[in-house]
Amino acid sequence: MAKDKTIYTCTECGGTSPKWLGKCPHCNAWNTLIESAAESSSPVKNRYSSQFQSLAKASEVTTLSDIEAADMERTPTGHEELDRVLGGGIVEGGVVLIGGDPGIGKSTLLLQALDSLQRAGLNTLYVTGEESGAQVALRSRRLGLDGSQVKVLAEIQLEKILATLEATQPAIAVIDSIQTVYSDQLTSAPGSVAQVRECAAHLTRAAKSSGVCIVLVGHVTKEGALAGPRVLEHMVDTVLYFEGDTHSSFRLVRAIKNRFGAVNEIGVFAMTEKGLKGVANPSAIFLSQHSEPVPGSCVLVTLEGTRPMLVEIQALVDNGGPSPRRLSVGLDRDRLAMLLAVLHRHAGVACMDQDVFVNAVGGVRISEPAADLAVMLAITSSLRGKPLPKGFLAFGEVGLAGEVRPAPRGQERLKEAAKLGFSVAVVPKANAPKKPIEGLTIHAVERVEEAMNVVRSLS
Ligand code: TYD
Ligand code: MG
Repeated sequence: MAKDKTIYTCTECGGTSPKWLGKCPHCNAWNTLIESAAESSSPVKNRYSSQFQSLAKASEVTTLSDIEAADMERTPTGHEELDRVLGGGIVEGGVVLIGGDPGIGKSTLLLQALDSLQRAGLNTLYVTGEESGAQVALRSRRLGLDGSQVKVLAEIQLEKILATLEATQPAIAVIDSIQTVYSDQLTSAPGSVAQVRECAAHLTRAAKSSGVCIVLVGHVTKEGALAGPRVLEHMVDTVLYFEGDTHSSFRLVRAIKNRFGAVNEIGVFAMTEKGLKGVANPSAIFLSQHSEPVPGSCVLVTLEGTRPMLVEIQALVDNGGPSPRRLSVGLDRDRLAMLLAVLHRHAGVACMDQDVFVNAVGGVRISEPAADLAVMLAITSSLRGKPLPKGFLAFGEVGLAGEVRPAPRGQERLKEAAKLGFSVAVVPKANAPKKPIEGLTIHAVERVEEAMNVVRSLS
């Protein structure tokens, strides 16, 4: 088949070149030229105009209040934790991107979801580019999905996949993975930015025009970005990421973008021999079990989406060499450097010549600043070799001036902690409850040094 001509377009300035160059001839940026299909017809015509035609039906200008806002109809997948991050279920014509490290459970979860939907009477399609049909069948047996009626297509060529979607009209199709799909229009290899972008654009268009819900599986590169960087995130309606380390059995699915629901909602799963099982009450899974308190450990209540969860922060402060190391797992490293500076300036705790390692237990990633106080207390506890009291927890954001700022929805956090048997809490003043919470002694603080004093008086 004769290939359409391709051109190379600069991602920075949009300039084009007939062949690949290391440096853009227009704006002199390096390594920005990517291949794309050339316009086939000679008059100046946006090649996407045909692609997105169905999206933009010639319509008139309307007043916002006159537009009927029908609520999207959602079809629950039958997996409550997945529905939670999706905002209630799959949406007709919605495109979902689901990313994560290899082996974390993307294919497993999606196969389970497809099977439930198929059993609920929906027509489903699983397109696999990474495994053969036999491998998928083997996995489904392992998952206990005997007699599954999910349709499977082992195919990586975009045009054939689109034709199958057209012919079979499924309600939901999973493309596992977008990096293996390639279009005949481009000469670059599958998985390259150009291919990933082109294929995702075509699939998105197919979803919008035919109403099929498409789930794209994307791999994450070593740096943590979806290969075919970010270009997919703005195209799709929902972006979900798998988190958690592959060694522990817990997996988190986080919504980082959702046009049909709340973001930062998380779904918690446990990997079992029979696939992923939702964890309905995850508040205590990120605590390690110490029989007695140990130095360098502090529990915080974090609020992910709508549910409070207790997470243990561990710190190890140890004699470092001339250039001590600062390492954090699950927490932002720059934030750690900032907290160490605040600790030094406002609480007189110096770690300049010490290695500092900080870890959030269970492979969970904490992005909210409410973890600051717990990180600081864990560091001081490790430095002094003194454990925090039994049943202790802390949360609150710490500012550069040494002030402790409130965390959103403090009451909810404290109630959850009390429910799990915690007895002492150091919290920002504005989060102190008006009515006492049974079983929980609360120390409200305004500044870092106050928090340190409270802890010293407790132990
Ligand atoms: P998989 O879904 O293939 O990961 P991805 O598609 O994200 O690359 O996950 C496979 C991993 O999960 C593999 O390491 C084995 C494990 N697993 C189980 O523990 N139990 C199961 O029932 C299945 C199917 C897989
Ligand atoms: Mg897979």
